[in-house]
Amino acid sequence: NYYALIMAGGIGSRFWPVSTKENPKQFHDMLGTGRSLLQQTFDRLSKIIPAENILIATNKMYTALVKEHLPQIKDGQILAEPAMRNTAPCILYSALKIKSLNKDAVMIVAPSDHHIENEETFASNVITAFKACEENDILMTLGIEPSNPNTGYGYIRFENSKNEIKKVINFTEKPDLETAKEFIKQGDYLWNAGIFVWSVESVLTAFEVSLPKMYKLFEKGNSLYNSSKEESFIEQNYGLAENVSIDYGIMESAKNVFVLPVDFGWNDLGTWGALYDKLEKDQSENAVVNARVYAENAAKNMISTASGKKVVVKGLDNYIIVDTENTLLILPKENEQDIKEISAKVNQTK
Ligand code: GDD
Ligand code: MG
Repeated sequence: NYYALIMAGGIGSRFWPVSTKENPKQFHDMLGTGRSLLQQTFDRLSKIIPAENILIATNKMYTALVKEHLPQIKDGQILAEPAMRNTAPCILYSALKIKSLNKDAVMIVAPSDHHIENEETFASNVITAFKACEENDILMTLGIEPSNPNTGYGYIRFENSKNEIKKVINFTEKPDLETAKEFIKQGDYLWNAGIFVWSVESVLTAFEVSLPKMYKLFEKGNSLYNSSKEESFIEQNYGLAENVSIDYGIMESAKNVFVLPVDFGWNDLGTWGALYDKLEKDQSENAVVNARVYAENAAKNMISTASGKKVVVKGLDNYIIVDTENTLLILPKENEQDIKEISAKVNQTK
């Protein structure tokens, strides 16, 4: 009864210029392991879940890339979205599709672009969550011990108890810096890892309550999922869904949320700085991907090239230097959150 949805439709814009709208970061081998982040996510989940029960949701424009990266999956396992509507609609669509195959299904929803160091611990945590959701009408998320007031994450306040799985008091998606600092000071908060577990039954009830319009829209197609009419139904209706993430749309308002605190070496590889943290460094603490670096009086830089060319840096600390075929980006690490906005502006000017 175990299923998975891998969400692979984001554009990873804070990883520009390597991650682009045409080829987003989940299709890149960001850590130089020989497997793209999407392939690593699939490998990790297929150790727990039968490969044929793993669905991939992605924008229509990336289905060819998904097939190229995962040649083992069947067309029916790809949910092709005709419009970008963030994560809530693709999760609802997948839950209805899975329910039409198996009404007792329990599913994990996973991002396609994270790194997980300890896969055995991950697997055992997911099994724990699956078992809890088989027996209870709950929405579960995996929680990470926070290390800094990062404003890019969801924050989970939980009820302290002896139980392994904790009741969530509230869920705050992407707080501002002041609030995040306050949360960290208080201590009883975890970061949302963005990995969710629930029965299809429970998550569908949550949609019906919190996003009733979206629920009705997709529920209309109930008799069509997994039939030859699914594609045209989605083509006609997907774009009518609200553009909202699961975090804002469901997790912030649901009352039956629980968290399993986990520690499996999670890194969401959300920014160049997160990648820098993950990579091995040279003597001057520069992290280098695919470049021959000559550094003098230059430390703690994140340097990446597409060509493998020689990069000479002198007198520059804490910078991101990224060279792709058509763009060279040089920017202080502390401004990495600006990359999203900068890339949008630059793409407009061409
Ligand atoms: N199929 C599909 N369609 N996938 C999408 C879409 C979409 O429209 N938009 C985003 N995704 C995918 C991304 O590729 C990524 O794998 C995942 O969904 C999460 O989206 P992000 O855009 O990366 O979310 P986030 O990082 O801002 O925030 C989420 O993750 C944090 C942890 O990394 C939230 O769940 C936060 O609460 C959480 O802390
Ligand atoms: Mg993310």
